[in-house]
Amino acid sequence: MKVIRSRRQRVCILIALLFVVLARESNASSRPKVRVLSTGGTIAGVQLNDEAPAYRAGTASAEDLIRAVPQAKKLADISVEQICNIGSQKMKNSIWLTLAKRLNEVLKDPDVDGVVITHGTDTMEETAYFLSLVSKSDKPVVMVGSMRPSTAISADGPMNLYNAIALAVNRNAKGRGVLVTLNDEIHYAREVEKSNTTGLNTFVSPNRGRAGLIQAGDAVFFSEPSLKYGLRSEFSVDLLAELPQVEIVYAYSNVGRDTIDYLVNKGVRGIVLAGAGEGNATDEALAGLQDAAKRGVAIVRSSRVGSGIVRRNIEVNDDRMGFIASGELNPQKARVLLMLGLTMTTDPNKLQNYYYEY
Ligand code: DGL
Repeated sequence: MKVIRSRRQRVCILIALLFVVLARESNASSRPKVRVLSTGGTIAGVQLNDEAPAYRAGTASAEDLIRAVPQAKKLADISVEQICNIGSQKMKNSIWLTLAKRLNEVLKDPDVDGVVITHGTDTMEETAYFLSLVSKSDKPVVMVGSMRPSTAISADGPMNLYNAIALAVNRNAKGRGVLVTLNDEIHYAREVEKSNTTGLNTFVSPNRGRAGLIQAGDAVFFSEPSLKYGLRSEFSVDLLAELPQVEIVYAYSNVGRDTIDYLVNKGVRGIVLAGAGEGNATDEALAGLQDAAKRGVAIVRSSRVGSGIVRRNIEVNDDRMGFIASGELNPQKARVLLMLGLTMTTDPNKLQNYYYEY
């Protein structure tokens, strides 16, 4: 049947279609905009075959990750960038600098409301703390990973990623520094630690507690972030081409000074002691660290214990030996702060103050 429509009917149909298109456009433009910076990790992991649990981290692309959680498209307009695609145990200072500089560029973009960074969980706590000290914005920055690869039964990555995107557009997440979400929990970058090699509940904040909880995108915050970070941090990567070399020495019964002497002769700028108890070690190791301090190497005493604090002059006379006490920071985070501190000063007193302020 040939439908002849009057000129008026055709005009009405065109106007109606125009409204539909404009409505869709306005709805799309009204959604917040999230940039996902991907670096790899288990969240991008792919099993070698269906039967075996073995997998290769840093395999799936950023697009693959977003494709696995289509519901996230209702939360925000999402754009992705692949910074690298590695297991985070292979993270390097050079990648940190690239990631931090790109993050600050993206945060300056008025069309970006929040950033999600996908990352392995092995060193996420280190990258998160580093970025919290050098990112210059109040916009939400949320790091996310997973404990099961993307191909696993009940892979945890998609829900973790959905939560991360929900947090990145959550007004209450603004101004809290870099956040970490996994397993329906929210952690502050300074506090979070990986505590279990395989468990979904691996991330803990043993000293000051979780920042909050998040269920299917609905977040509840329990606490405010502590100390200095973000816009209140004096550290910057803008002029940095590399980070000072700082290594960690692990203490245990009978530990000697050979490793310490080797590092000093290699020219490291700082050494962090992962000490027994409240940052303790054998007399030999302490003598090696004292000689290192005399040669201008910055020495920070932290603890291998996993929670609590390391105070000055308790069993080790830091004043006499020229050491710095790490306070609440575990060895891997004490290293991050020492690297950035050494871009500003070599004065042990000024370096010590950083551990009270950050
Ligand atoms: N290869 C480890 C990493 O990329 C796996 C741990 C994970 O991402 O959960 O950190």
